[in-house]
Amino acid sequence: MRLTEMFNDIAYEPHVQQLAFHDDDSRFKLLIAGARFGKSLASARDTLSDLLAGNTRGWLVGPTYALTRPEFRYIRDDMLHASDITEYSNHPPALTTRWGGEVVCMSARLPEALLGEEIDWLILCEGAHLDREAFDRFLRARLVTRNGRLLVPTTPRGHNWIYELYEGASKLEEWRVQRAATWDNPHVDEEEINAARRSLPQATFAEQFGGEFVTPHGRVYEEFDYELHVAPGLTPPPGAILHKGIDFGYVAPFACLWGYLDADDVLHIVHEYYRPERAMPLHIRSMREIDDRFRAMGCRMGAAYVDPSGAEQRNMLAQEGLHVLPANNHVEGGIEVVRRRLIPNAQGRAGLRIDASCMNLLREIDGYAWQDNARAPGKGSDHALDALRYLCVALTRRVGWKPPGVVW
Ligand SMILES: Nc1ncnc2c1ncn2[C@@H]1O[C@H](COP(=O)(O)OP(=O)(O)OP(=O)(O)O)[C@@H](O)[C@H]1O
Ligand SMILES: [Mg+2]
Repeated sequence: MRLTEMFNDIAYEPHVQQLAFHDDDSRFKLLIAGARFGKSLASARDTLSDLLAGNTRGWLVGPTYALTRPEFRYIRDDMLHASDITEYSNHPPALTTRWGGEVVCMSARLPEALLGEEIDWLILCEGAHLDREAFDRFLRARLVTRNGRLLVPTTPRGHNWIYELYEGASKLEEWRVQRAATWDNPHVDEEEINAARRSLPQATFAEQFGGEFVTPHGRVYEEFDYELHVAPGLTPPPGAILHKGIDFGYVAPFACLWGYLDADDVLHIVHEYYRPERAMPLHIRSMREIDDRFRAMGCRMGAAYVDPSGAEQRNMLAQEGLHVLPANNHVEGGIEVVRRRLIPNAQGRAGLRIDASCMNLLREIDGYAWQDNARAPGKGSDHALDALRYLCVALTRRVGWKPPGVVW
């Protein structure tokens, strides 16, 4: 039976965007949409042809069982006759049909359960709230043997892994991505949408109702603000002592930042060096050239606070006459110190200013995100940020910069 005939039987009239979703027969479909768009309904109904096809097995996987229930209820209610369901359970939600179709809800909180059998179709309910790891490690393989289908209906959640999938999927075979807004569903009351528009911050509304990837959910440095923290042409005055923060890398970039503290204890990051895949002597040569340029401006060189795990590289730098000290590499504590510098004081001044030429540092600081449900940021683009952390911790320990007005 064609899907449209089935829809007739159950009196389902998909709206235009839902129709586009159903019309596409890609194996993997990502549906990003605002709240109440009809994601759950459309996903449940898209799997009807699989469920009615015979003894197939489908899973509804969500961050919790509760988030799989809407899809599960739609499927249950679509069974035309009570006798179509031969087995039914509420905890966990599951059903079996008389022709041997199985629908089982799974919670990603119990990842071992996701190791189960092969499946023919899978709905990742509110996928943006799931860990990428659960999908990569536990779920992807389940679909392979039976050439299973995957639907991912979700509201966006900042620039997390769903965003990456959304950006990348259009280039992948077998994938179809679609993004839509709450107001694409004509069954949602316009006044409800307008009330939300009035009461929510603009970015939240754009994400939750517009289905847009806007709020960088879980940004580590959420206080970072271009207006406040970035300026062109930050030049150290003659006599300034420039310190360095250095994060070693060979395949990953080697990052070095130059910074000085002004009389108000504001840390100015005035230069960055950021290069991957170069031998240490070349990095040293480049850093020396930059040091010399600052010396010519009347600056003096202070210590270099470096990645404490790189003893060998540290020795190489020391042998070249650099004053190197192993940095404190406590990530969470270091992040806290950087964040305190980002918060403006009563006069609206922040404790950290970055020269606009430090493109890599600025890119990293803006995109640095907490890994879903974890207390550590995702590894990746954090080389200049490590260097920044080393500098901030080292220099703040000395001067104790903190926003005035905070009582400790
Ligand atoms: N084609 C349709 N015809 C009639 N009603 C629809 C249709 N699509 C969705 N709806 C109704 O819109 C409401 C939202 O649907 P649904 O729960 O599927 O949306 P959702 O995008 O999953 O929402 P949430 O973000 O809350 O999970 C429900 O009341 C549903 O019955
Ligand atoms: Mg839903």
